Amino acid sequence: METLTTPTDSVFSRLPDPSSGVFTAPLQRPGHVGEDWVEPRQHVYGADENAVWDDLFARQMEVLPGRAASTFLAGLGKLDLGRGGVPEFARLSADLGALTGWSVVPVPMLIPDHVFFWHLANRRFPAGNFIRGRASFDYIEEPDVFHDVFGHVPMLADPIFADYMQAYGRAGWKAMRHNRLKALGALYWYTVEFGLVEEGGALRAYGAGILSGPGEAVFALEAASPNRIRLNVDRVMRTDYVIDDLQPTYFVIESFADLYHQTVERDFDRLYRGLGPGFTYANTAVIDIDDVLHRGTLEYHLRGGRRSGAKPV
Ligand SMILES: [Fe+2]
Repeated sequence: METLTTPTDSVFSRLPDPSSGVFTAPLQRPGHVGEDWVEPRQHVYGADENAVWDDLFARQMEVLPGRAASTFLAGLGKLDLGRGGVPEFARLSADLGALTGWSVVPVPMLIPDHVFFWHLANRRFPAGNFIRGRASFDYIEEPDVFHDVFGHVPMLADPIFADYMQAYGRAGWKAMRHNRLKALGALYWYTVEFGLVEEGGALRAYGAGILSGPGEAVFALEAASPNRIRLNVDRVMRTDYVIDDLQPTYFVIESFADLYHQTVERDFDRLYRGLGPGFTYANTAVIDIDDVLHRGTLEYHLRGGRRSGAKPV
């Protein structure tokens, strides 16, 4: 059985040097960070910034009990992320390290794909250093420290999900060689950012994009508009996604062990060879092989979505 990695991918201690044939986003590295893009120190947050964290935290906790995966809520508790103010990464890393061997490192906004994969492969989660202001309280384009730490880090306290994230980082090398980063990105999008999981016969959210924003947990779990389809990795990696609105389709896993096995035990070389360079399926599509749990009305998206002020029904 082939796995995500090949012998040439087995050394994750050194930062990979993407060959000239590999496309990487042209990000300009700020002068104060090194090749690893890690900030020399975490930003020191002022009282206003800590209050933004506290208010965002309180708002999410009105919505998430009964909607967030129990794994997420357990992680939130174990890491005590609601003790007040933006968590200090050193303390957070010590607690997380004791649970699953992960740490959290501060980075300036977006970082290049190969650097992101390298950190994940070494069980380091790169988190944005800045926090949104009051003017963009409800919606931000770039992930900030609230999205990254509140949304992602609790799941890293779970041993199986922690292993999945490391395997995902290792898988990045192969995707870059095959020039299929978009396909691997779709898998991240529909699992790590917008995934749903079955729990005792009900659906719960575990994706950071759902859990860190207002409204999407209710929409993803309870609205009639979106499709809810059982996760099929090959299908998901061919599926387009929107980054600036609620999702028309959510993919559901049976368990985190199921997610781990569906991905880590898959022959990705063969999958990449069979994939075209673009996406095959629109993000609204339901196709004949789908195991559909709920066929969405797509009403929200048909009415124009966020841009036209449509109700998320
Ligand atoms: Fe994220």
